[in-house]
Amino acid sequence: MCGIVGGVGKGNYHDFLLNGLSSLDYRGYDSAGVTIVNEGGIKTYKVVGTVEDLIKKAPEELNGFVGIGHTRWATHGTPTLNNAHPIVSMHKEFVIVHNGVIENFLSLRTKLLEEGYAFKGETDTEIIANYLEYSYHHSDGVLTAIKKLILRLRGSYALAIIHAKEPDKLYFAKKNSPLIIGEGQGMNYLASDAVPLLSYTDKFIDIDDLQYGFLTSSDIKIFYKNDEVPKHYITKNVELLKKELNGYESYMLKEIEETPAIISRLCTNYFDGTEFKFSKSLIRSLKSADTIIFLSCGTSYHASLEGVRYMRYLGKASEAYVASEWAYEPVIFGKKPLFILISQSGETADLIKCQKVINDYGFINISVTNTPGSSIDRESTHSLLLNAGLEVSVASTKAFSAQVALLAILVGAIENRFNVIDHLRTLVDALEKITAQKENIDLIAQKLLNYNLLFFIGRGNDLIAAKEACLKMKEITYIHSEAFPGGEMKHGPIALIDHKTALIAFNCESMTNAAIRNNAKEVETRKGSIFIVSSEAVYRGGDVFSLPYVKPYIKVIPAVYFSQYLAYFVAKHKGVNIDKPRNLAKSVTVE
Ligand code: M6R
Repeated sequence: MCGIVGGVGKGNYHDFLLNGLSSLDYRGYDSAGVTIVNEGGIKTYKVVGTVEDLIKKAPEELNGFVGIGHTRWATHGTPTLNNAHPIVSMHKEFVIVHNGVIENFLSLRTKLLEEGYAFKGETDTEIIANYLEYSYHHSDGVLTAIKKLILRLRGSYALAIIHAKEPDKLYFAKKNSPLIIGEGQGMNYLASDAVPLLSYTDKFIDIDDLQYGFLTSSDIKIFYKNDEVPKHYITKNVELLKKELNGYESYMLKEIEETPAIISRLCTNYFDGTEFKFSKSLIRSLKSADTIIFLSCGTSYHASLEGVRYMRYLGKASEAYVASEWAYEPVIFGKKPLFILISQSGETADLIKCQKVINDYGFINISVTNTPGSSIDRESTHSLLLNAGLEVSVASTKAFSAQVALLAILVGAIENRFNVIDHLRTLVDALEKITAQKENIDLIAQKLLNYNLLFFIGRGNDLIAAKEACLKMKEITYIHSEAFPGGEMKHGPIALIDHKTALIAFNCESMTNAAIRNNAKEVETRKGSIFIVSSEAVYRGGDVFSLPYVKPYIKVIPAVYFSQYLAYFVAKHKGVNIDKPRNLAKSVTVE
């Protein structure tokens, strides 16, 4: 789960490599490094830490013929300088950066040890570098060596490879990790996503699995097995890929507050005033399916839980599964199942694994992603895009609301009910009202700082809000948080309650109002503190916040919107890095 960049052609690589890595550090920020090759030889600069730390260490000018860079989320081997990329092969003939995980690294390592290779670090990447070098010594050139490497590697990789004797070339190979090439003027580039390349080109080529090849300053060669493959150029929507803070102090806050505009945009993107704008075949597939299975991870899984409620409302059998579980034990039921894969990034490894199973079976799958051209988007039968703009903060916020809103519009399209658009417009107003009261949410957040255990409860839609609120809180504030159905508290978790426990109870449903209040009372009786977040319909004096009215089927969105602010303010008062919480990365591209 790392980010890679690379370029070839004579020039100063300082800005390209370092700004490029900054834009990719959502993929990991444990260590970073760059290598540049020039008349003076191969120079590598690495740090344990973030790209900002690397910027302080690297020289002002990085002039050369070819350069590569890497920002790392550690999988094999702790974040040390030896394990930081770029990684040099034992005889210093190859320098590589790698995003992915090699599953058979142990057997390759044993083979290389037998061949006299020694290792400086603990990474699977060092094994790739050395195996490549070993293969090269038994091949007629680098391309043949890469071909052999591809045959031996199991797992995932996007590789940028410098061969010390050919500084006019930048080699690459890819499987199960994203890699995009950008065609420039007198220079060519590659990266894990298009963002680092946007200032240099608007001509991109997505590299497919098992493709490999090389770039020179004036040429791009792509191969699959023994054949050269034609180049398919694509463009990218630069506006939606912009990474700017626009005066905000953190991406998380900026992204929360983009939500109302994104929901409005979804309405216009998917409804033109007279009809819904989904493809007819997508709607036909959904209508004819008897079973809808949602697959996703993390926050996207919570959006899927709402999707299940929508599909059951339509009379379909529906379940949501966490992708990492389903991937190993696929549950497929019904006569005509259809899969909906939800992923902000479109690159989540566990979900990609599920999609391969689904595609092998030949089942229809709809992707709901925020990343056009991502692996999941490309491999789906039907693609739905959130168009929410780049989500930089590791904590997913605007994507959740956009996912739920898009599913709601989809249901509207299936039923031909245009009023869903009016309901979403009311929702936009409701979110703006919450933003107007964010100081009050800040006050609640300050109180939460006094507790070392936070419980979140809800029932029905409120349970989904509780789960997502809990994930947000633990992920960016590091306060131990757990979420339960309100009724489950007394079946075990209540044993943990003492005066250092706070209960955040989402209580927006009239039907379960009394039950949730009883659950809260039980906690209070055991010296826990309670914070009831209710809605206009069920508000009582003493509740800490009242969420504005929206139609019941979309009320998870304001509840989660509130909870995103809540986690944000707690993290802010704790003084932690809000956008880059410890141990995490934005895009989870390893299993
Ligand atoms: O890109 P995806 O939606 O597939 O990512 C899934 C999860 O990794 C992601 O939602 C994660 O849980 C977030 N950090 C939550 O804020």
